[in-house]
Amino acid sequence: MNILIMGMGYVGVTTGLVFAEQGLNVTGLDTDSMKIQTLSEGKLTFYEQGLDDLLLKHLKSGNIRFTSSTKQAIRDNNIIFLCVGTPSDKDGSADLQFIRGVAGSIGKYMNEYKLIAVKSTVPIDTNYKLVHWIREAQSTPNEFDVVSNPEFLREGSALQDALNPDRIIIGSDSSHAIDMIKSLYGKISAPFFVTTARTAEMIKYASNAFLATKISYMNELSRLCETIKVNISDVAEGIGMDHRIGKHFLRAGIGYGGSCFPKDIKALLYTAKEHNTDLSILEKVYQVNQTQYSHFLNVWEQKLGGFSHKTIAILGISFKPDTDDLREAPAISIIQELLEKQAIVKVHDPIAKLPFGLLSSKLQQFDSLEETLDQCDAVILCSEWDEYKLADWTQMQAYMNQHFIFDGRNMLDSKQLIKLGYHYHGIANE
Ligand code: UGA
Repeated sequence: MNILIMGMGYVGVTTGLVFAEQGLNVTGLDTDSMKIQTLSEGKLTFYEQGLDDLLLKHLKSGNIRFTSSTKQAIRDNNIIFLCVGTPSDKDGSADLQFIRGVAGSIGKYMNEYKLIAVKSTVPIDTNYKLVHWIREAQSTPNEFDVVSNPEFLREGSALQDALNPDRIIIGSDSSHAIDMIKSLYGKISAPFFVTTARTAEMIKYASNAFLATKISYMNELSRLCETIKVNISDVAEGIGMDHRIGKHFLRAGIGYGGSCFPKDIKALLYTAKEHNTDLSILEKVYQVNQTQYSHFLNVWEQKLGGFSHKTIAILGISFKPDTDDLREAPAISIIQELLEKQAIVKVHDPIAKLPFGLLSSKLQQFDSLEETLDQCDAVILCSEWDEYKLADWTQMQAYMNQHFIFDGRNMLDSKQLIKLGYHYHGIANE
């Protein structure tokens, strides 16, 4: 079985390498020839631990190769995974231009039976529409099956998540296609859940929306807890011990970001609107997330006595640790608000870099923590990289002008920092 992965982003590269690791023959396709060249040289186009070693291993083993020749790649492979992006359109709906594009290519170039599996997050009925788009583009009526096989890996732990999934969802009504997909995952130990393509599509959105709901619930609760001085992290631990609630995704903070939750929540709300249905809980999840960072920025501004003309260090700009992804990162919104309030902003991240165009005399990025904290009045921690937990905060004190630490992820050791003489404030964790 020869597998073609269309779209070399996080999901595509990880999926390809996981199949290569199972001993399967994989080709990665992308229209961006620079990406293909970089991957062919054994380098990733994003930061993700563990994937780089696997890439080198399977370029060497010959289990994976990369190309931008769409026609040849479609002809040479009988199983095709769609891993192209489905970004938000202006109205919040999922933009399906890349899905339509690959559907057109598959229809045009296929010369025999193909099994097409959709990993991209797509709105309900997209798998059904895909069949029509492929047929429309066909010049000869070759047979094919389309299967929904959504992906649940997280950035920052992509490889571990893909190798150890909680479940494998297969949405199809073709028993032949279902068996083929099952055989591909033969060496991965996870239960299969077989359903219709429409239900599989909804399972993906409902999973992300539920996780975002857990976060926004805790974030909204943290606002009350901040006011009445109840520790939200202790609340999370206490409720998480109830197995019906579960301990994961209860960490209050400055809000969720990334390329998935914000876009998928908007897309699901759009689908609801299209069908004249209210998803009022999800509307609120979205609103709480939009305002969470500014709520706590206001709290911290009062503690500091204003941000104007103060020097603020931002630690961690990626939307979460262990990734260089800045998409919808709360840190970026915080930086913008601080600049509007006439603060001077100094930024640090172990991996992620601010786009050059954003930098100015009022906004600079530094490589070392010492340079970043030099002459700062306050630190705002935006993503919980280990480096910040392990930093020598006794030594850091000497560099700072005032000793305020605002911990947007409740990550640092508050007791220790207070003992050292810092004015420490997190998200409802006093
Ligand atoms: C998310 C899902 O967790 C994956 O299952 C899914 O496959 C992926 O979206 C996708 O649809 O592609 P990801 O966005 O990579 O994965 O990262 P998460 O670990 O889910 O974190 C998302 C955001 O939530 C981050 O900003 C993180 O800081 C925040 N978060 C997470 C919290 O604020 N509190 C928590 O308790 C957990």
